[in-house]
Amino acid sequence: MKPSFVTLSLSKLKLQYELLLKTFPTAKVYYSVKCNPLPNVIKYLTEIGCSFDCASINEIKYAISFGCDAKTQIIFANPHCSQADIDEAVRVGVEMMTFDSEAQLLMMKNVAKPLLRLRPDSQSNQFVKLGLKFGTDSFEGQRLLNLAKAMKKDVVGIAFHMGYPIGPADQIMLMLKEVERLAAFNNLKLQYLDFGGGLMPSGVPIEDYAGVSKELLRIQRDNPGLEIQSEPGRYIVEDAIDFYTRVESVDKNRVFVAGSAVQSFHRDLLLSKKLTLSVVKAEELQKCVHSKKRIDIQVVEGGEDKIVIGSSGIRYDIFYEGKLGDVKAGDYIAVKNAGAYTASCLSDRLDQFSGMEPFQVVEID
Ligand SMILES: Cc1ncc(COP(=O)(O)O)c(C=O)c1O
Repeated sequence: MKPSFVTLSLSKLKLQYELLLKTFPTAKVYYSVKCNPLPNVIKYLTEIGCSFDCASINEIKYAISFGCDAKTQIIFANPHCSQADIDEAVRVGVEMMTFDSEAQLLMMKNVAKPLLRLRPDSQSNQFVKLGLKFGTDSFEGQRLLNLAKAMKKDVVGIAFHMGYPIGPADQIMLMLKEVERLAAFNNLKLQYLDFGGGLMPSGVPIEDYAGVSKELLRIQRDNPGLEIQSEPGRYIVEDAIDFYTRVESVDKNRVFVAGSAVQSFHRDLLLSKKLTLSVVKAEELQKCVHSKKRIDIQVVEGGEDKIVIGSSGIRYDIFYEGKLGDVKAGDYIAVKNAGAYTASCLSDRLDQFSGMEPFQVVEID
């Protein structure tokens, strides 16, 4: 077994994809590549018919390399990119892109399907308030639609992303109302309505958004030919992946592991301090890898105060400080449901810096 690896449950990926389709039956799913771009994830999602929300030209080319069709299966959903990136995206066949500013709209003369991106107001509980970066309010949105008209550029739809967590259904309903109002006021034939990502794999159950789904169906009935789109990241991949790293040595309260916290678990889990570790015996893990069956990782309360230290030498490389159960060299430290915004934070440069081997991906059922 490798010193550090993740197990990827393909059946869980499929289940999440299907649950989403069941809740929003007419919505086309554009998986948000930035959430986890592991090749195994993108390949499998392509195979089961998923489309992709790409945030950069490199993500676009990457998705295409797995056989996805640029014209019908990619949305370039980063409203702040360079002219060169937009031109390159058009050159490789991408038609759909979002904009939320005059500067971006002016760069999109050759883009076939521009979508205006609105900004939701409801972001009070969010760790990262994406509205600070992306989206526009309706007032500015109106000005941009006027500008598009003056440019003789057809805006074909409206997008919004509630951020994470997505928040209550009534806030999404408000956004849907605003989309309809703007479209009606501007005589805009809505061909695409994109309600973004932010759905939670745990927490508020997806069934709680059945009302939103009904409303989307109603809007679709009122706008013949309208395509509804979702851009889930976390909902699809978070619970499909567990991370394991071997304990190399234990010195009193210091537990040294093979993996690196800053390379493998940078953003969400470390910064939001939501990293929960468990200890798994190597034999148990070996069985799982062999049988391709997932381990039901148990989080044990209590234990002694420990500090789990990553091997990169970077001073931030600390997985955890707190209580941890009995742990010995050769055991594995496990992090359950670690699929979202983890692998995407790895970078080749950091690998070179620490000289560490990237972790292995083991596909399981
Ligand atoms: C435009 C857009 N769509 C989709 C997503 C995916 O969000 P999540 O992983 O919370 O579903 C993001 C995340 O930042 C985003 O900015």
